[in-house]
Amino acid sequence: MRPQVVILAAGQGKRMNSDLPKVLHPLAGKPLIAHVVAAARAIDAEQICIVHGHGGDLVQAALSGEDLAYALQSPQRGTGHALQQALPKLTKAPLTLVLYGDVPLVHPETLEDLLKAAGKGAAILTAELDDPTGYGRILRSKAGRNKAGRVTGIVEQKDASAAQRRISEINSGIMVLPTARLAKWLSQIKNKNAQKEYYLTDIIALAVKDRVPVTGLKAEDAGEIQGVNSRAQLAQLERTYQWLQASELLDAGVTLVDPLRFDLRGTLHCGRDVQIDINCVFEGEIVLRDNVSIGAHCILKNVRIDAGTRIEPFSHIDGAQIGAHCRIGPYARIRPGTHLGAEVHVGNFVEIKASDVGDGSKANHLSYVGDASVGRNVNIGAGTITCNYDGAAKHRTVIEDDVHIGSDVQLVAPVRVARGSTVGAGTTLWKDIPPGGLAINPKTQEYRAGWQRPRKAAKRK
Ligand code: UD1
Ligand code: CA
Repeated sequence: MRPQVVILAAGQGKRMNSDLPKVLHPLAGKPLIAHVVAAARAIDAEQICIVHGHGGDLVQAALSGEDLAYALQSPQRGTGHALQQALPKLTKAPLTLVLYGDVPLVHPETLEDLLKAAGKGAAILTAELDDPTGYGRILRSKAGRNKAGRVTGIVEQKDASAAQRRISEINSGIMVLPTARLAKWLSQIKNKNAQKEYYLTDIIALAVKDRVPVTGLKAEDAGEIQGVNSRAQLAQLERTYQWLQASELLDAGVTLVDPLRFDLRGTLHCGRDVQIDINCVFEGEIVLRDNVSIGAHCILKNVRIDAGTRIEPFSHIDGAQIGAHCRIGPYARIRPGTHLGAEVHVGNFVEIKASDVGDGSKANHLSYVGDASVGRNVNIGAGTITCNYDGAAKHRTVIEDDVHIGSDVQLVAPVRVARGSTVGAGTTLWKDIPPGGLAINPKTQEYRAGWQRPRKAAKRK
């Protein structure tokens, strides 16, 4: 039977000191709660009910899907009160899995294990931490021989005695509960505690009292149950997550010169023997085919790069497809809607936007190519600019195969440079030119012999 999931996400997250609701702070470029929703989807939940409150509209706007239901909690009186608000929205699924919007890295396999462990009763996911400060502690009955004691309850850090604070087994917040018992137990929770809140954690002692078996399942990897309460914890978790992603790539055969200086905010598919130097940021959907190499300090977003292409350092590439065996950068900027063929060279301080560039063409220095169709084996000289914008509309520049454009040329669009023609250095081209010839703007050069440059008056001493 499929379970249902409730995600508690109504808290403000005071310790974040932020106007943005805590669950919308990004981890690897995606809101915390989106990671939790993804985990819930991976276990095929019947319904995912999100308890929202603080900044609730923003939370709803950040998510989408027919499997999502919402319950409003206002004001926020604690995690027990939060789950109570979800009751009217719950389905008949016998088990309800409670997830926290600020515990983003839990593995779906762990959730499956927890559901199995619950059977028809309850289960909580715990972990042993070297530093359990801040978390609720798991109370167990005295351990028998070779056996951990039975779970009897949870005590919050703020309510714990000095002895209880020494307990290193903590509550992840993630629990499985029998749906049919929820209404009764939640109505029995009191707010007589340090924070005057209705704690969901008190439900465990109530279950024990009703003789419902409660299994405490320890997570193998304590990292997956880490919660985010402060920006420092969020930063730590970001590094944990990036390290996980980096290790997967290393295992798959990708060279990361320094896996600690690697950031992936999306998905990265790599072919064989891809090399990635330090401090690169990858966003959205990225595909790097065999033997692609990415230099240091590059930013790539929604990009596909074909085999054998080198991206030199400090390049910024967004929304582009780049062919095989190209050489891009250093300091290249490639903007959305750009398709480069094979063996294209794009050099330093060249910007290309919404343009197609054919195989073997080159723009090696200081150029702007926007809204252009560039054929094959075209050479674009240094300082060439497509003047694509007349102040009202954008126009296209067409440069056919085998054209040679000299340095410092302005192509005033719409304009077409036909096959095999040459445009002389310093030309402003505003009319189409036929194939094969040379276009230049006649200019004269004067020479004034003995001409004196003005001089500054000598300083008096
Ligand atoms: C909670 C647990 C603690 C556990 C820790 C794990 C309780 C009482 N304590 O503490 O045992 O070790 O998580 O990370 O449950 N929320 C609401 N409505 C509210 C209050 C909170 O929806 O009224 C949501 C928050 O948005 C958050 C989650 O519940 O996503 C946890 O709330 P938080 O205040 O962070 O609880 P902790 O103090 O971390
Ligand atoms: Ca928390």
